Amino acid sequence: MLKKWVLIFFGPPGSGKGTIASIAKQKLNFLPLSTGDLFRQHIVNQTKIGQKIDFTMKSGNLIPDELVSDVVFDWMENSVPKGKTIILDGYPRTVVQVESLYKYLDERNRISQSLVIHFVLSDEIILDRLSRRYTCSNKNCQKIYAFDNSLKLQPICDACGSSVLRREDDAHETVKNRLSIYRKNEKQLLKIVTDLGFAMHKLDTNKSIEDVFYDFYNIVNDENVEV
Ligand code: AP5
Ligand code: MG
Repeated sequence: MLKKWVLIFFGPPGSGKGTIASIAKQKLNFLPLSTGDLFRQHIVNQTKIGQKIDFTMKSGNLIPDELVSDVVFDWMENSVPKGKTIILDGYPRTVVQVESLYKYLDERNRISQSLVIHFVLSDEIILDRLSRRYTCSNKNCQKIYAFDNSLKLQPICDACGSSVLRREDDAHETVKNRLSIYRKNEKQLLKIVTDLGFAMHKLDTNKSIEDVFYDFYNIVNDENVEV
């Protein structure tokens, strides 16, 4: 049986997708693509795409489907070395995106090599975690932190020395908007993904980061993912 090498992280904002993707990169050498991080880079670099999506993203709404899928497929075609296990962090998240991804993978006989990881966390914990999240401002680092009292007023990233800031879309009302968009689509998307024949696993993220990664690692082993 062919090993799985396309991991799809699906879950609400703040459920720990980026955190687990980053540990999987360090420990397992997986290659993550966070569509959110990628589009934030476009905004910082003031590219054409960045100017187009700036307001949408800051208000917590979704970027147009065709723009997102084009960028993801381009990355899969041109930036993934052979033999790498990849993580799509935050893509797909609409019916149109699921269908586009299905078509893309099916044309390449890759559905059986794909695995959806469904991150599960309650709204209450998400609101708390996102009210305390800080992210490294260096676009090549983007390390994620959870604020606690040990961080000084002007926190500095311990990985690269850049300043550590709050994401604009982590403002309370914007998080509520992001969450409500996610919850509105969640059931329907999970059903479509299952109906299309994707393998799927739930990941309960209401545990310590170490325990969540341990559960993730067990899924990776059980599901015959290329490590
Ligand atoms: P994106 O950047 O993907 O944001 P998101 O999906 O809302 O998810 P987050 O990055 O906020 O959370 P996360 O799950 O990565 O959690 P994290 O690990 O940081 O997308 C942003 C925007 O881009 C969208 O709103 C949209 O505009 C656009 N976009 C992106 N993709 C798109 C698409 N496909 N279609 C259309 N538009 C798109 O963890 C959160 C916090 O919790 C951190 O502080 C972390 O330290 C902490 N933490 C993590 N795990 C634990 C744990 N186990 N215990 C305690 N604390 C923890
Ligand atoms: Mg993230």
